[in-house]
Amino acid sequence: MKIKRILKWTALALLVALFLWFQIAYWTSTNDCARITAAQGDTMKAIVYCDYGGPDVLKLADVAKPVPNDNQALVKVRAASVNPLDWHYMRGEPYVMRLGAGLRKPEDIRLGVDFAGVVEAVGKNVTEFKPGDEVFGGRAGAFAQYICATEKALVLKPDNMTLEQAASVQIAGLTALQGLRDKGKLQPGQKVLINGASGGVGTYAVQIARTLGVHVTGVCSTRNVEMVRSIGANHVIDYTKEDFTKGTERYDVILDLVGNHGLLAVRRALTPEGKYVMIGGQKGRWLAPMDTVLRAFLLSPFVSQQMGFMISKHSKEDLTHLRDLMQAGKLTPVIDRAYPLRDLPEAIRYLETGRARGKVVIAME
Ligand SMILES: NC(=O)c1ccc[n+]([C@@H]2O[C@H](COP(=O)([O-])OP(=O)(O)OC[C@H]3O[C@@H](n4cnc5c(N)ncnc54)[C@H](OP(=O)(O)O)[C@@H]3O)[C@@H](O)[C@H]2O)c1
Repeated sequence: MKIKRILKWTALALLVALFLWFQIAYWTSTNDCARITAAQGDTMKAIVYCDYGGPDVLKLADVAKPVPNDNQALVKVRAASVNPLDWHYMRGEPYVMRLGAGLRKPEDIRLGVDFAGVVEAVGKNVTEFKPGDEVFGGRAGAFAQYICATEKALVLKPDNMTLEQAASVQIAGLTALQGLRDKGKLQPGQKVLINGASGGVGTYAVQIARTLGVHVTGVCSTRNVEMVRSIGANHVIDYTKEDFTKGTERYDVILDLVGNHGLLAVRRALTPEGKYVMIGGQKGRWLAPMDTVLRAFLLSPFVSQQMGFMISKHSKEDLTHLRDLMQAGKLTPVIDRAYPLRDLPEAIRYLETGRARGKVVIAME
C-alpha cells in the first residue's frame, strides 16, 4: 500500500516537473535574430525568419558574409531550390519538430538547404575544389548569396546542366535514389508505383527508377500525365479517374510521396512480399504524418509485406552518382519555375499548394 502511494506521488511529481520544465523552456526559448540581422562590415543578403509562421515571416536581411575555415569552400550561391522541408521549418510544423528546432521561436533563423554556385575561395585543407569551379550540394542556410561548405557537402556540377537544375538535386534526388534503391531494394524487372510522380521528388524517382531497370507506374493528376510519361514512366495513372489501390495490378515497391491512402488499401496493391516506402504524408500540425508512420511500424511485423518510413540522408557518394547520371543524360531535373531570392515567400506559397510540377528554384540576381 505504502509503496503504491510513493509511486503515485513520484509519478505526479515527475509530471509536474516536466510540465514546469516545458513552460520555462518554452517561454525562455529565443534566438539571435536581432544580432544576426544587425551585421556590420562585410555583409550579404540572406533570408531570415525570427518567428514561426506563414511565408510572410520570411525577410530579406543583411547578415555577415561567411568566412570559410581551413576545411571549407566559400561558394557564391547562384541558385537554390525549395523543398517542403523549408516550409516545415518555417511553420515549425508538425509541432513535434520544435523539440529540435526551437520551442517558441526557430533557433536557427536561416533557411534553405539545396544550392548550386561558384567556388570563390577555399580553406588550406581543401584539395578537391578551386576558385571558379561550379558546384552543387546541400547545407543549412542556402537561401543566401554565399555559403561555406566542406568538401563532403559539394560535388562538381555536370557541364550539361544549368546551375538552377543542379540546385534542385540535393534533397529530392537523394530521397528518390535512397527510397528506391536502399529502402525499396528494387531489382531489375520488378514493378514500382510512384504516388506523386509529378512533384519534386517524384520527377527524380521516375527517372532514377528507370535507371534501375524496373517497370515504372506514376500517379498524378490529368494535367501532368504527359509530363510524367515524357520523363520515362511506362504507365501513368490519373488519380482523378482511377484509384491505384482498387485496381488489379500488384507492385513490388510503392514509393509514396503523398500518403493519401490507408495502409490496408496500400497493402492490397502490393505483391505478397512487396515493400511500401513512405516518404511524404498528409499535412498536419500535431501528429500527422507521424501517426501513419507509427501505424506502419506496428503493422509491419505482422504482415508479409514491409511497410516503413524513410528519411533521406546526405551522402556524397550518392550525390556523385546522381551527378554521373545527369552527365550521362539519364537524369534531367524538371524545373517548374524560378523566383528571385526576395520572392522566396511567393515560392514557398506556391510549393505549399501541393501543385508544383517538378522543382521550384530560386535564381540569384
Ligand atoms: N522523408 C524524407 O526524407 C523526405 C524528403 C523529401 C521530401 N519528403 C516529403 O515527400 C513529399 C513530396 O515531396 P515533394 O518535394 O515531391 O513535394 P511537391 O513537389 O510539393 O509535390 C507536389 C506534387 O504532388 C502531387 N500530388 C498532390 N496530390 C496528389 C495525389 N493525391 N496523388 C498523387 N500526386 C499528388 C502533385 O501532382 P498533381 O498536381 O498532379 O496532383 C504535385 O506534382 C512531401 O510530403 C515532403 O515533405 C520527405
